[in-house]
Amino acid sequence: MSESREIRLAPSLLAADFADLGAAVDMLADIVDVFHIDVMDGHFVPNISMGPVVVEALRPRTEVVLDVHLMVTEPDKWIGPYRDAGADWISVHYETAPHLERTMSCIRGSGARAGVVLNPGSFPDGLEYVLNDTDFILVMSVNPGFGGQSFLRSSLDKLRALRSRLDQHGLGGVQLEIDGGVDTSNAADIVRAGADILVAGSSVYGADDPRAAATRLLQEARRGLS
Ligand code: DX5
Ligand code: ZN
Repeated sequence: MSESREIRLAPSLLAADFADLGAAVDMLADIVDVFHIDVMDGHFVPNISMGPVVVEALRPRTEVVLDVHLMVTEPDKWIGPYRDAGADWISVHYETAPHLERTMSCIRGSGARAGVVLNPGSFPDGLEYVLNDTDFILVMSVNPGFGGQSFLRSSLDKLRALRSRLDQHGLGGVQLEIDGGVDTSNAADIVRAGADILVAGSSVYGADDPRAAATRLLQEARRGLS
């Protein structure tokens, strides 16, 4: 792994106090690079979370990247509304996107960074052939829908396998993000396996001191670089 690799922490607002999301952003904005925003439609996943209005309300609070993870059955029709609301990165599930190449181009065409998300059971043959317009792959390390679940260790193998497939196909610039159950016990292993961006909900906002928790988690993640 290159020594100049940058590791980013993306606290997930799903684990923050929904009555005070602005404060959740303010408390970490100067020490993190990304905020992760989970969008759930009650169809693709058994939960409902945040609409474009939430992104629109948070946008003026920070210049930190807003990373919108779409867990919805019809992602194409939500790219425009979330981008207009202020999303910087938009990712869609492979399981919901039959025309993945077109969906990725559409996200990029909107000016956002484009990501494809893989459920724990997905490892598509030939994914690399439709990734020319893709900026990152988000590997789910829990089944999507809820925060606070346990990290699936099999996702470490998946990160390693994806990194090697991407490198083989000249797609070394595609970043790997991981989401679900990330905490100080697994952060260094996750980085060793090839992830660049770590999403963390409960282990940051569920802590007594979210700033201290985010700092420690990032330190622990960076240990995986050495
Ligand atoms: C789960 C979401 C995650 C969630 C992670 O469907 O995609 O982003 O917020 O929460 P933790 O870190 O608590 O597993
Ligand atoms: Zn997520």
